[in-house]
Amino acid sequence: MDALKQAMASAAVDVEATLQKVLQSEDEPEHRLFDAMRYAALGGGKRLRPFLVLQGAGLFSVSRKSALRTAAAIELVHCYSLVHDDLPAMDDDDLRRGKPTVHKAFDEATAILAGDALLTLAFEVLSHPDTHSNPEVCCRLVAALARAAGAHGMVAGQMIDLSAAGGEVDIGEITRLQRLKTGALIGFACEAGAILGRAGEAQHEALRGYAHDLGLAFQIADDLLDVEGTQEETGKAVGKDANQGKATFVSILGPERARAQANMLVEQAAAHLAIFDEKADFLRKVAPYIVERRS
Ligand code: IPE
Ligand code: IPE
Ligand code: MG
Ligand code: MG
Ligand code: MG
Repeated sequence: MDALKQAMASAAVDVEATLQKVLQSEDEPEHRLFDAMRYAALGGGKRLRPFLVLQGAGLFSVSRKSALRTAAAIELVHCYSLVHDDLPAMDDDDLRRGKPTVHKAFDEATAILAGDALLTLAFEVLSHPDTHSNPEVCCRLVAALARAAGAHGMVAGQMIDLSAAGGEVDIGEITRLQRLKTGALIGFACEAGAILGRAGEAQHEALRGYAHDLGLAFQIADDLLDVEGTQEETGKAVGKDANQGKATFVSILGPERARAQANMLVEQAAAHLAIFDEKADFLRKVAPYIVERRS
């Protein structure tokens, strides 16, 4: 296994343990809700956003506990977004991370509530003094994640994604859609370490620039996998975007030009990290992985 894969696998183990901890339920009467939350969040996924948080935190000597709790928080929001994205009212998918989606394994109402509860739990985790002893830092994390996840970020992107299905969309609109839908949460993941480490503006700016290009490349890769990947590789149904008339970079540019665009973005992303030393090497290395990945 190469060094990047090893680092990602080891980060995933630590994040899983932190998620286990924050998703503990002690004999609650609502155990069905907890079962659905745990089903959605544990034991799957690439854990890319948590990896970005941990690597970003590594640039600023942030404590492991602070970094892991922040990594878990972003993963909780990501998992909620997947649960709701798969609902019949949205993408209507039956398979996620190689197993039945939450509304299939449980039911629709439970999936909606589990998503709600994962989202709110993320903010409970971030605002807890265990995440950072300085309440101002906690508050900045909460505000940044709220902004990235909500009506100025991921949710706005999901709204445009639904309204763009079947219609005419140009490359500018699709870029905005993708930056909001996927880029905003990846943006938080990349910048969170700088917030935790109370970094200077130049460092924030560099990480924002990196995330801006990385997030877009990531969603182009997801759209390419929907066309070129298999269900076995991705753990989710493929060919859904074309069936649903979704506007993507691939639907507009075709796979070859979309891949060229993603590769260009990946190079651009790494260039933003020039101000950092070798501590940023995994951030540099994860950029090409994002486009080459098969899952
Ligand atoms: C899938 O995200 C949804 C998108 C934003 C494209 P990931 O590809 O990171 O999914 P997991 O977490 O590995 O399952
Ligand atoms: C979903 O994008 C992005 C989210 C905010 C969840 P997609 O709908 O393309 O993600 P997949 O392909 O279902 O994972
Ligand atoms: Mg979707
Ligand atoms: Mg989907
Ligand atoms: Mg997709």
